[in-house]
Amino acid sequence: MTPGKADPACYAMVHPGLEEVAGEEIAQELGGDIKKSGLGIVVFRLPDIDRSILELRTTEDVFLLAWGTDQLSYRAEDLERLRRWTQREPDWGRLLQIHHAIRPKPKGKPTYHLVAQMIGVHGYRRIDALKAMAQGLAGKFPASWKPADENAAIEFWLTINGASAVCGLRLSDRTMRHRTYKHEHLPASLRPTMAAAMVRLADLKPKQVIVDPMCGAGTILAEVHAATRSRRLHDGSGWNLTVLGGDLDAHHVRAAESNVRKIGPTRLSPWDARCLPLDDQSVDRVISNPPFGKQLSSPGEIGPLYQAVAVEMNRVLRSGGKAVLLVADVDALRQAVQGLPWRRTRQVNVRVLGQRAAILVYRKD
Ligand SMILES: C[S@@+](CC[C@H](N)C(=O)[O-])C[C@H]1O[C@@H](n2cnc3c(N)ncnc32)[C@H](O)[C@@H]1O
Repeated sequence: MTPGKADPACYAMVHPGLEEVAGEEIAQELGGDIKKSGLGIVVFRLPDIDRSILELRTTEDVFLLAWGTDQLSYRAEDLERLRRWTQREPDWGRLLQIHHAIRPKPKGKPTYHLVAQMIGVHGYRRIDALKAMAQGLAGKFPASWKPADENAAIEFWLTINGASAVCGLRLSDRTMRHRTYKHEHLPASLRPTMAAAMVRLADLKPKQVIVDPMCGAGTILAEVHAATRSRRLHDGSGWNLTVLGGDLDAHHVRAAESNVRKIGPTRLSPWDARCLPLDDQSVDRVISNPPFGKQLSSPGEIGPLYQAVAVEMNRVLRSGGKAVLLVADVDALRQAVQGLPWRRTRQVNVRVLGQRAAILVYRKD
C-alpha cells in the first residue's frame, strides 16, 4: 500500500517488559518509527502499512490506531470523552480501507466485534466504556454488518490502562500470539513471543550452531527457525543453521519434536544439560529457559543445577559466543556464572507466570 499523509499510527500489545525489544524489532524489520511506549504497549508509525506487520514475532497483537490518550480522569465523565473521541477523531473509512487491504474481507456480509479491556480502578465499568465506544461508532460502518462474538472479520478494540487509553482496529488474529506450530503444550512452556524476544537478543548469524539444552516443548527452537527461515545470503542460499535441543524428560523431547518437526530441521535428544554430548567450543549460541525454583521438587536445587549447567554451557560455547538465559532467580544465575569468562551485555526484566524474571544476555570473552 502506498503511504499517504493520512496513514494512521499503529500500536502493538506486548508482554510487559518486552516493549524495548519489540520496538527494536519494529524499527529494524519494518523501518518503523517508535512514537511512544508504555506498559505493554508500543505506538509506532510505519513507512508502509502492509501485511509485513503481521510477521512481527515479539508482539502479541497489532492494531491501527484510531485515537489514544494519557489523560483519562478515572471519573465517569471519561465516558463522554471516549464516545466523542471515537466519533470525531479517526477517519474510520481510511482505517477500514487499510484493514481490508491487510485482512481481506471474507465473502458475504462482514462480521464485527467490539472489545473493551480495562486495567485499574475507574469510576465506571468496563461495559460502560464498551457502550461509549459503540455509541461513538454509530454510523461509521454499514448497518448491514453483523455482530459476532467469535472470529469476527473486523474487531474494534478499546484498551484502558490507568489514565491511558488506546482505541483501534485489530490487524492480527490469535495466530500472532499463539503461532500455528504449537500443538503440544507443557505447563512450563514459554510464550512464543517471549521465546522470540530471546532469539532476537541472541543476534543470530548465518551458519551458526544454536542449542537449547533444556528445551521443554521446543518453543525457543521453533522461534529460531521462524526468525531465520526466510533469510537469504547474497547467493540466495538459506542461513543453514544447525539447531540442537534436548531435555532430561523424554516426554518433553517428544513434545518438542511434534512442535518443531514441521518448521525446520532440528536434532533433538533426551540428555542431561549437566553433561551434554557436544564437543568443547562447538556452539555459537545457547538460548534457554532453565527451570524456575518452583518447578523443581526443592527450590534449594536451583543453585547446584544452575552451577553445573553454566559450567557445561561454557564448555560447549565458542569464545565470542553468546548465552541468552531466562531465569526468575537472577542471583542464582549470577553466582553460577561467576568465575566464567562471561560478560553480561544486557538484562531485560519481564514477568513470567506472574513472577518477576529476567532475560540475561552473556558474551563469552
Ligand atoms: C522451564 S522448562 C523449559 C520450557 C521451554 N522453554 C518451553 O518453551 O517449553 C525447563 C525444562 O528443563 C528441563 N530440565 C530440568 N533439568 C534438566 C537437566 N538437568 N537437563 C536437561 N533438561 C532439564 C525440564 O524437563 C523442563 O522441560
